[in-house]
Amino acid sequence: MEALKGVRILDMTHVQAGPTCSQLLAWMGADVIKFEPPQGDATRGQLRDVPNADSLYFTMLNCNKRSITVNMKTAEGKQVFVDLLKSCDIVMENFGPGVLDRFGFPWEKIHAINPRIVMGSIKGFGSSGPYADFKAYENVAQAMGGAMSTTGVPEGPPYVTGAQIGDSGTGLHLAIGLLAALRQAERTGLGQYVEVAMMDGVMNLCRVKWRDHQRLWHGGLSEYSVPTHKGMGAAPRAGNDSGGGQLGNAIHCKPGGPNDYIYVVVQEAVWDALAKRIGAELDMPDLATDPKFATIGERRNNQAQMWQLIGELALKYSKRELMQILNELDVPCGPIMSTEDLFNDAHVKLRDMMVELDHPQRGRWHNVGMPIKLSASAAKIERSPLLGEHTEEVLRQVLGYDDARIASLKSAGAFSVPPRKA
Ligand SMILES: CC(C)(COP(=O)(O)OP(=O)(O)OC[C@H]1O[C@@H](n2cnc3c(N)ncnc32)[C@H](O)[C@@H]1OP(=O)(O)O)[C@@H](O)C(=O)NCCC(=O)NCCS
Repeated sequence: MEALKGVRILDMTHVQAGPTCSQLLAWMGADVIKFEPPQGDATRGQLRDVPNADSLYFTMLNCNKRSITVNMKTAEGKQVFVDLLKSCDIVMENFGPGVLDRFGFPWEKIHAINPRIVMGSIKGFGSSGPYADFKAYENVAQAMGGAMSTTGVPEGPPYVTGAQIGDSGTGLHLAIGLLAALRQAERTGLGQYVEVAMMDGVMNLCRVKWRDHQRLWHGGLSEYSVPTHKGMGAAPRAGNDSGGGQLGNAIHCKPGGPNDYIYVVVQEAVWDALAKRIGAELDMPDLATDPKFATIGERRNNQAQMWQLIGELALKYSKRELMQILNELDVPCGPIMSTEDLFNDAHVKLRDMMVELDHPQRGRWHNVGMPIKLSASAAKIERSPLLGEHTEEVLRQVLGYDDARIASLKSAGAFSVPPRKA
């Protein structure tokens, strides 16, 4: 059985941060009703690759959901919303600050309508504090949560990561909060308001940088390859340094293309075997006993030289060949996988992490699979819904509306495009 079978979610989320969360919950079996404005989630039309088809931006984040369109700027639309609130276990949103209040539905009112319901809310900066009124997108959260200032190299600009830690990362945080609150509501009969600020989520994901920030009060950071010193202040950008107790770096391999790199962690336990292999290949038979590299402390002090030696070894092999060699020595390592590499990777296929789906507008397409594997409740991934595909189905099946009621709501504009803001 699906783990969340029987849980119904009123999903008002849009763009990426919220839909990431509701898609995961849908993959765990929740009945997710995507509650869209009549013009639809803006991402349906953003970055389109196929004319007149929902974009991949939308399809990849909204699988296994039902779509209902409701105009919340009409009294009739609001009534449909209230009826759905009474029929759901969770309501979730990631509107800009103040949108729900303008609809006339702050949390207190939602709680009064259905005391059991759990409400999930994502904001750029939360509902309190000096930044509370500001909107946010992925890179704004990365900028303000500490990720950008610690990504890149000291002499270059700050960089964003390719991983969507501001949006998808926040969605994951929200999923955890919602499941905890749902468990509590099941026991107490009372729902609560679960808020995740994107900035807070990014700070949480930068935890080791806060470790380093405080270590700098007491001294330099010996594992960093870039200069650090006591009293330095901010944790610096440190390129591809490992960020952990072991030394690590990305090493260029044969034939030297932009993704021909392998990330190598020189774990304390593997130095002897690695040094013997490097020594044999580079004609340095004494490397394993060289005092310059004998301890992790010495290797930290002489890491530029150590990486140069590993780099010389790497130039003889492709990243896959070197992965095999290093795996045999039990050295933790990973080739830098491009999207093309991953798309064709046997391991990825075997773990259902790239799934092929059909879609009435775009035909065959692929989505990244479910990363959380439940042993008795495997995710069955289904395509995203068309705009309003399930409006009538939900009105009838969930709310028990009859034909006459649906027709009168339609003529009152409950499901049509609202007038533009003056
Ligand atoms: C992402 C974000 C910047 C987008 O901003 P935006 O496009 O201006 O969208 P907003 O959420 O502020 O506003 C949505 C509008 O659609 C309207 N709307 C939404 N659903 C509606 C419905 N069912 N019926 C009628 N109107 C609807 C809202 O009323 C609002 O209009 P208003 O400003 O007249 O009240 C903003 O939503 C935000 O900061 N969200 C929180 C942080 C976040 O999740 N960011 C990451 C996104 S990946």
